[in-house]
Amino acid sequence: MKTNLENGRTLLTALKLAAGPFGSELNIPVGCPVRALLRPVATTPENVVFGDIVAMSEWRNRFVTHFLTEFLATPERTKSWLTDVVGPNGSKILFMVDLPDGTTTGHVGIDFINWETGYAEADAIVRGGEAPKGVMREALLTAISWAKNQLGIKAVGVRVRSNNPALGFYHKIGFTEIARYPLRRIDEPDLVRWVEDIHFKEEEAEHFLVHMMFDSQN
Ligand SMILES: CC(C)(COP(=O)(O)OP(=O)(O)OC[C@H]1O[C@@H](n2cnc3c(N)ncnc32)[C@H](O)[C@@H]1OP(=O)(O)O)[C@@H](O)C(=O)NCCC(=O)NCCS
Repeated sequence: MKTNLENGRTLLTALKLAAGPFGSELNIPVGCPVRALLRPVATTPENVVFGDIVAMSEWRNRFVTHFLTEFLATPERTKSWLTDVVGPNGSKILFMVDLPDGTTTGHVGIDFINWETGYAEADAIVRGGEAPKGVMREALLTAISWAKNQLGIKAVGVRVRSNNPALGFYHKIGFTEIARYPLRRIDEPDLVRWVEDIHFKEEEAEHFLVHMMFDSQN
C-alpha cells in the first residue's frame, strides 16, 4: 500500500509532464466564486509557454534584490532553468496564476519537498501584473491546501530575505518567524549569491534570511 507522500510524488511528476499550453490541462481553482486558476508551469522543451518565460524573466528582473541569487534574467536563461532545473526536480512545482479574463498575473510554487518527512516550502511567490487585492493570498493558500491534500505535505515553511517587504505579506497570511540567520554576499561573474552563514557576525550582516512556518490556525 502506497503512503500519501508516495502518491503525491507520482502525482507531482505526472502533472509536470502533462503541463502544456493554455487549455491542455486541468487547473486548480482559487476562491469560490473563482478568482484565479493555478496552472502548472510547463517545463518540457516541447511544451514550455513562451509568454510564461517572458513574464517570468521580466518579473525576476523587477524583483531581483528579493531573491538569494541576483542576475540578469533573459528568456533564454529562464527557458533553460525551466527545462533543465525545474522540470527534472522531483521536489518542485510552479503554477502560473491566471485571472478569469485569461491574463496571467503571477506565479506561486511549492519547493524543497522532503518526500520522507512531508516538509515543503512556499517558493517563487510573485505578482507581476495587476490583480484584485487578496488574489495572491488566496493563490498561495490554495497551493498550500493542494500540497497538503494532494501531495500529503504535512508542514510548509518559507524563507525570505529580511529586506523583502513580502515579509509582511507572509505574516498576514499565517506564517510565523521561527529563526533568522545572517547572509553572506558572494560575488561571482554576472551573479551575486547570498548564502546563509551562521558564523558571519550579525552586526556585519547586510541582510538576513528569515525562516517562517505556516500555521493554518492564524
Ligand atoms: C508578495 C506579493 C506576492 C504580495 O502580492 P499582493 O498582490 O500584494 O498580495 P494580496 O493582495 O493577496 O495581499 C494579501 C494581504 O497581504 C498584505 N500585504 C501584501 N503585501 C504586503 C507587504 N509588503 N507588507 C504588509 N502586508 C502586505 C495585503 O495588504 C493583504 O492584507 P489585507 O487583506 O489585510 O489587506 C507581491 O508583493 C510581490 O510579488 N512581491 C515581489 C516578489 C517577492 O518578493 N515575492 C516574495 C519572494 S520570497
